Amino acid sequence: MEPEFDDPELTRAVAVLAQARRVCVLTGAGVSAESGVPTFRASDGLWEGHRIEDVATPSGFRKDPGLVWKFYNARRANVKAVSPNPGHHALRAMEDRWGGGFTLVTQNVDGLHKAAGSRNVLEIHGSLHRTRCLGCGEVQDRGLEPLADHPLCECGGRLRPDIVWFHESLPEDIWEQALRAADACNVLLVVGTSAVVHPAASLIPVAKRRSSWNNVRPGATVIEVNLTRTEASEYADVGLYGPSGRVLPELVDRLSS
Ligand code: OAD
Repeated sequence: MEPEFDDPELTRAVAVLAQARRVCVLTGAGVSAESGVPTFRASDGLWEGHRIEDVATPSGFRKDPGLVWKFYNARRANVKAVSPNPGHHALRAMEDRWGGGFTLVTQNVDGLHKAAGSRNVLEIHGSLHRTRCLGCGEVQDRGLEPLADHPLCECGGRLRPDIVWFHESLPEDIWEQALRAADACNVLLVVGTSAVVHPAASLIPVAKRRSSWNNVRPGATVIEVNLTRTEASEYADVGLYGPSGRVLPELVDRLSS
């Protein structure tokens, strides 16, 4: 049976957040689930019908760019049809409270945090909104309008989604900023991620300072928000087990009352 959302844990979360000067959030697909974006590792997950190698690797793109673009155009259409949910809005409200002391690191490529008004968002896995030219390297924000199955850049080069695929590195500058935010925070909120994909998940031990990256200063308090326990749970000081679209607004309400 799934753990229940537990009120004393919420009280503890509110207490640590109320004391925090710097807050970092790491989100995953679960935060968008209530908007209608499928998560990755659920049985009805996004990769269903497609092997990851075919649609989310550089070699898959070289082999069949049309298939890859069909897949990403379908994801773009899905995201275009949905809206941020109360969980996204609650995270935006948290940013209003902490201002420059608040960093939202997301593994999601759907752009829903920005659509909710979050400003300091680090999209470490890229964005469905953007294309990147394999010729001139230009990155363009194309919104979510459908693109051709073989879109080309003005320079004649082939366009690919500006998304981090398997076997690829994260964008270096964004990742550096995420590491710094995790290292400097007093509280790390880990929301809706199975925490199995690295290096994203390694932000959790970095924040706890239980990593070789920095183990000198005392670590952050880790609060996990998820439907279930995950790989992050062993690091979590507080566990809020329920849908993020309910838990996060509750947290914000309690913080402001
Ligand atoms: P997963 O699909 O692995 O995990 C989603 C998590 O969200 C699970 O732990 C669920 O229990 C939880 N969840 C589902 N609904 C929820 C809800 N309403 N409220 C709270 N939690 C909920 O997705 P990620 O951890 O984001 O990478 O996956 C990480 C990366 O794996 C993705 O960014 C993607 C994929 O490979 C790339 O594409 C590079």
